[in-house]
Amino acid sequence: MNTAQFISKSSSNLVEKASFTWQTPSNIALVKYWGKSNPQIPKNASISFTLNNCHTITTIDFEKKEKTATVDFDLFFEGKQKDAFKPKIAEFFKRIQEYCPYIFEYKMTINSENSFPHSSGIASSASGLSAIAMCLMSLESELNTDLSEGEINKKASFLARLGSGSASRSVEGPLVVWGNHPEIDGSSDLYGVQFPYKVHSVFENYQDAILLVDKGEKQVSSTIGHNLMHNHPYAENRFTQANDNLSKISKILQNGDIKAFVNLVESEALTLHAMMLTSNPYFILMKPNTLEIINKIWEYREENNSNICFTLDAGANVHVLYPESEKKTVNNFIEKELAKYCQKNQYIYDSVGFGAKQI
Ligand code: PMV
Repeated sequence: MNTAQFISKSSSNLVEKASFTWQTPSNIALVKYWGKSNPQIPKNASISFTLNNCHTITTIDFEKKEKTATVDFDLFFEGKQKDAFKPKIAEFFKRIQEYCPYIFEYKMTINSENSFPHSSGIASSASGLSAIAMCLMSLESELNTDLSEGEINKKASFLARLGSGSASRSVEGPLVVWGNHPEIDGSSDLYGVQFPYKVHSVFENYQDAILLVDKGEKQVSSTIGHNLMHNHPYAENRFTQANDNLSKISKILQNGDIKAFVNLVESEALTLHAMMLTSNPYFILMKPNTLEIINKIWEYREENNSNICFTLDAGANVHVLYPESEKKTVNNFIEKELAKYCQKNQYIYDSVGFGAKQI
């Protein structure tokens, strides 16, 4: 695999000081990534909607210094120094240092905040790591002014992926595919690409209401979760199924068959959880209220001939997906019937977004 293309050209004229701020989104997978090999190579291709309101805003101040053997950075989260988050970011810098050797020549001060409540159960690694990757790429494009926007996004996704696989899908929007797939032109295991075909208008401005059922720490970290797929009795079939589902959803997104979309997306969510139910050690990541919500969604869909559906992350929260044309009626249903199953009645209205923005 050609990763040499991502090694930055050395530059003798490093800028003395620079500061960049990026807002990067979270994303929600429709076909799920679960299972990987080193270094962060997915076992199957995945596709996600980029979100709009759930995002991270990160500023990195770079100050030139003598080259050192370790990366020198301070980390602030929501205005407070956060040393507890440092090991994860230090590990990220270790994984990318070969591609961004200039990070040894700067003192970096990272200031980050999320638009969604901390420990809401919404994974912040995708938005958090893509934000850092974009700030690094802003610096890199000062060192190498030949970089095009396409190259910047590609390398940012490549770097973000090395921190957290799904972060590779948090640079662009509204639909991003990560993982090599024969039917998706330009797709790669190394970075995410925008879904390359024309999407049917029914999927424009698709809505995602995130119902916060369980706001605690994730019961299974993604590292442990992905590892459960090694020696999993159903793993190989799952990887084949996911790639088949990607072929199917590619057609669905183009032809607007929303009933098929509902079926595929819900099946993907339940399969992700089935993988955890059937691994060893085994986990039940849904909570009773997750099931209450799913049943209510099914009832509502039946009674109202609606196209509402759900998807799940590796946790108990429910993402309720619906077309913009149903926004008023479904939001009403969420407020009247579903909010009561959320912790402190909390939910977040979001919709499909377009990717990273420099601020
Ligand atoms: O990016 P990671 O390693 O945290 O894995 C994320 C996996 C899921 O969110 C469960 C699925 C996905 O494709 O986003």
